[in-house]
Amino acid sequence: MIERKIFYFEKPGEENTEATLKLAFERARELGIKYVVLASSYGDTAKKALKYLDSGTKLVVVTYHTGFLEEGKNTMDQETENFLRSRGVTIVRQSHVLSGIERSITRKFGGISRVEVIAEALRALFGHGLKVCVEIAVMAADSGAIPLEEVVSIGGRIRGADTAVVLKPAHMNNFFEMQIKEIICMPREKR
Ligand SMILES: Cc1cc2nc3c(=O)[nH]c(=O)nc-3n(C[C@H](O)[C@H](O)[C@H](O)COP(=O)(O)O)c2cc1C
Repeated sequence: MIERKIFYFEKPGEENTEATLKLAFERARELGIKYVVLASSYGDTAKKALKYLDSGTKLVVVTYHTGFLEEGKNTMDQETENFLRSRGVTIVRQSHVLSGIERSITRKFGGISRVEVIAEALRALFGHGLKVCVEIAVMAADSGAIPLEEVVSIGGRIRGADTAVVLKPAHMNNFFEMQIKEIICMPREKR
């Protein structure tokens, strides 16, 4: 049996970013985890994470797919991306696995797909941040940016970070092989 601390924020949101990053990188170091996967739409949270990097940790930043908010456009600007890459950060930009083409079908014809139900169940029960931790881990694994070994994954509510977990990732075609091993921090109130 092992004992670990879980930290709870009162509410979800960006104000929890610094604490989440600090706790996440501390746990990665404690457990000897090499890869930290982080959601960052515009690059702001990614830039804040740089100060926690050391030679033993690799930062993989997952951002929105091209066209997510505006057709043909990226949310993260090129200058930010170049800067992050120059600091050794891997950037993953690919289709979102917990919505995918299903979202287009739902928008056009209504109803809801099985994949979107998984996403909504994770959001409702554990909060947006945890759903993001799960989703970006699959995206990073499917891009070949992380191996299928324990990683720390960090997500948030719209902007910034408020949730961090230790998980064993899985590929999209083996999703139920994923295991959330430890919750490092999360908001106690989900909405
Ligand atoms: C692939 C992907 C999916 C995301 N899904 C959600 C979501 O379902 N709900 C949510 O509140 N935020 C979602 N986010 C936002 C992230 O959790 C995080 O708060 C944001 O990317 C941080 O961006 P910033 O560094 O520009 O502030 C998502 C981000 C990415 C990259």
